[in-house]
Amino acid sequence: MSESLSDWLALREPADFAARSAALTRAVVDALPRRRPLRILDLATGTGANVRYLARFLPPDHKWLLVDRDPELLAEASRRTAAMMAVDTKCFDLGPLDRPEIFANRDFVTASALLDLVSERWLRDLAERCRAARAAVLFALTYNGRSQCSPVEPEDDAIRELMNRHQRANDKGFGRAAGPDAVDRAERCFAAAGYVMTREPSDWALPSEMHALQRELIEGWAEAAAEIAPEESAMIQSWRVRRQDHVAQNRSRIVVGHDDLGGWLP
Ligand SMILES: C[S@@+](CC[C@H](N)C(=O)[O-])C[C@H]1O[C@@H](n2cnc3c(N)ncnc32)[C@H](O)[C@@H]1O
Repeated sequence: MSESLSDWLALREPADFAARSAALTRAVVDALPRRRPLRILDLATGTGANVRYLARFLPPDHKWLLVDRDPELLAEASRRTAAMMAVDTKCFDLGPLDRPEIFANRDFVTASALLDLVSERWLRDLAERCRAARAAVLFALTYNGRSQCSPVEPEDDAIRELMNRHQRANDKGFGRAAGPDAVDRAERCFAAAGYVMTREPSDWALPSEMHALQRELIEGWAEAAAEIAPEESAMIQSWRVRRQDHVAQNRSRIVVGHDDLGGWLP
């Protein structure tokens, strides 16, 4: 399980880096205190892509705590960030959000590719934890329910709708996922906790030569669609074959809508 997740995270990292908003990252980093080494918390770290992305924006003196429920991904995160910095890791389920000590004295709380997996209740609790620490926040690469494939196939919209339904039915231990509504809900929860929030698009724009990532994406969408609507299996299978053929023929381009969301307390 964690090996295939690790492979998927490696595959998406270049697209993630190209998509993220440098302007929003700089705005959040500019709001961080400068009087002491920064204490940063990365939630659902995976193999540490968020740490690798953010390192170049941060002042040299900072300490990271990385949390994930998967010990193998965390070990990989430690290994792959060792040349840049020392990090602490903690392995536990973030679902209950019942470990307030991880937020204590944090200047900056961040996550990437996480918020679409969590529930509104979890977002409300997270906003309260962050506010109590007076931490600035940056949540990158949250799927926003939009996608566009080229060349167009007649079922593209139907598959996207099924995939979005599947996302909203997800529960990874955080309660029922906000899915494509996560950015709106997070913005509302953090604003209600007193944060000034800013949002920037961070869409993936996958060119035809990104074969492997496109292939995995199409397989993932088809699998999710078939899981939520098994009665549509024939339509989904036929769509999958045509989309994979576009990839194989070097003519497929896919845009996947994401947003980055940042905030700080005035
Ligand atoms: C899509 S990956 C994103 C990883 C990383 N932030 C990145 O951008 O590459 C989601 C991560 O959430 C972690 N995760 C999922 N459910 C979790 C839970 N209940 N508690 C802690 N981590 C969880 C997974 O192990 C995985 O590493």
